Order: sequence, then structure tokens, then C-alpha cells
Amino acid sequence: MQELAGIAGYMHDIGNVISRCGHGQSAALIAMRLLKDMGTTPEETALIISAIGNHEEESGDPVNPVAAALILADKSDVHKTRARNRNISKDDIHYRVNSAAKRSFLKVIKDKRTISLQLIIDTRVSKVMEYFEIFISRMLMCKNAATYLNCTFELIINNRKLL
Ligand SMILES: [Fe+2]
Repeated sequence: MQELAGIAGYMHDIGNVISRCGHGQSAALIAMRLLKDMGTTPEETALIISAIGNHEEESGDPVNPVAAALILADKSDVHKTRARNRNISKDDIHYRVNSAAKRSFLKVIKDKRTISLQLIIDTRVSKVMEYFEIFISRMLMCKNAATYLNCTFELIINNRKLL
């Protein structure tokens, strides 16, 4: 399962080669063909492509453990290394929030069945409220995915537990 989730992680955004719009579904179709060529079993392929097809905020659900893991990995991904495009204006909220995220770590506390997203945000670059403005729907997806895995999701920003 872990390896299938890793493969889904590598392939999940491949649909952007066609269009940003509906890239989860197009990625699933592209992945299906590639996985078939690589000899992946139908059962493994089904888990991977259903996870990929369910990773977008608009239509994604944690339909299986691989999908839940992919949602947690993708939707918790905020870090200054993502703010790469220097042509984007500093007025862009996504650029600011990503730039402000100095540390981002998804910690799995197995004994407590807790999945904890721990962020350090430089509030001189972006206020914590801005993080919520753009990431609240992603955090709700993470919460649902953690619940699917029979875990609790926590959000800790600057050492304060907010969820
Ligand atoms: Fe995506």
C-alpha cells in the first residue's frame, strides 16, 4: 500500500500536461496506460488511478487508503521551495503564503493515531489568516482523509494547535 501511494504521489499531477482543469481525471487516464505498459496488476492499477482521480479539491474523496495518503501528502504541501516562479507578483497570496512557510512537516504519530501538519510561518511575509484563506478546503480534505485512516488530523502553526 505504501509503495502504491508513493507511485500515486509521483504520477498524480501528470494530467496538467493536458490542462489544469480536470487534471486529476486526465492524470488517472494517462497513469492507467503507463501502469499497464509497466505490468502493474489490475488491482494495483485500480488503487493508484482512483487515488489520482480523487486528489482534487473540487471532486476528491478518500475512496481507499492510497487515496487518503495521497490527499494528505498533496494537500499539506506548502513550503517556500514551491514559490519558484519569480515572475509571479509578490501581491499573489499563494506566492506569499508559500514563501512564508519556512518549515512544513507532516508527522505521523502512530501510537496516538494522529497525523499532524506542523508549519512554521514567517508572519512578516504572510499572516496566518492568509494561510487559512487559501488552505482551509485543503485542511478539511486532510481531516477527512485522516478520518478515513481512523486517525485524527492536527494542524499546528508556529507551535500553536489550530485544528
Ligand atoms: Fe493536482
